[in-house]
Amino acid sequence: MSNSLPERFRLDGRVALVTGAARGIGKAIADGYAAAGATVVAADVAPGLEGVTLDVRDERAVEAAVADVTRRHGRIDVLVNNAGVVGRTASEEMPLELWERIVAVNMTGVFLCSRAAGRAMLKQGSGAIVNIASIMGMVGGGLYPNLAYHATKGAVVNMTRALACEWSGRGVRVNAIAPTFVETELTQRLFADRPMLERIEELTPMGRVATAEEIADAALYLASDAAAMVTGHILAVDGGWLAR
Ligand SMILES: NC(=O)c1ccc[n+]([C@@H]2O[C@H](COP(=O)([O-])OP(=O)(O)OC[C@H]3O[C@@H](n4cnc5c(N)ncnc54)[C@H](O)[C@@H]3O)[C@@H](O)[C@H]2O)c1
Repeated sequence: MSNSLPERFRLDGRVALVTGAARGIGKAIADGYAAAGATVVAADVAPGLEGVTLDVRDERAVEAAVADVTRRHGRIDVLVNNAGVVGRTASEEMPLELWERIVAVNMTGVFLCSRAAGRAMLKQGSGAIVNIASIMGMVGGGLYPNLAYHATKGAVVNMTRALACEWSGRGVRVNAIAPTFVETELTQRLFADRPMLERIEELTPMGRVATAEEIADAALYLASDAAAMVTGHILAVDGGWLAR
């Protein structure tokens, strides 16, 4: 490990796989990691020009994607489980199909990607996994119904802790970020509802929503050697939402 503090925040020579990286928070993380020196594989079910195609629900595709990263780059140092979807439907009306789709992406996808990348990281004796959970994995929300999201993000929070307990002794740190509301395509329609956006701002001690880059900053910290002693932690990037 480097002795210089700024250098401990860099990712030179590291290989990172970021899921859901075609846009929004995932893209900001992929761009941030690349700027910090990492070789980044940006994976998405609907990839942009420079990304690779990966549906995190697909067991074989996940295994193949991780095998491809290690074959091409010789290792995998960082996995960011960022791919995620919402389903803002009243619980009493929610179709099972929608519930299962959200569970498959937000929860099973995190398991599949962590299992595949974790196996390679355990073999090399080092690695960092950063899960993108949500403040809505820590509280019940109350602004609108979003049951499967709360359930799956709560699961991501505790999967982070359980995997940290299981793998940290073998060199693999596992942490999560719990972002507040962030300006991305995921929240575009929600924020178009002015009274809803104002209510969110009112409920946030800092009085505003977050940018994707503010989440990427935390993701860089957790992936880097600057967080060498940090594992099993849920880092809220929430303008004080959870402090209320
Ligand atoms: N935007 C917010 O307010 C907010 C707040 C807290 C947490 N989050 C979490 O941050 C993550 C990213 O959210 P965002 O706002 O950037 O969303 P977004 O919808 O802008 O981007 C999500 C990306 O994930 C991809 N994706 C969806 N399903 C996939 C699958 N099965 N396999 C691979 N990729 C898939 C999409 O194609 C898209 O590019 C999600 O896990 C979300 O739950 C977002």
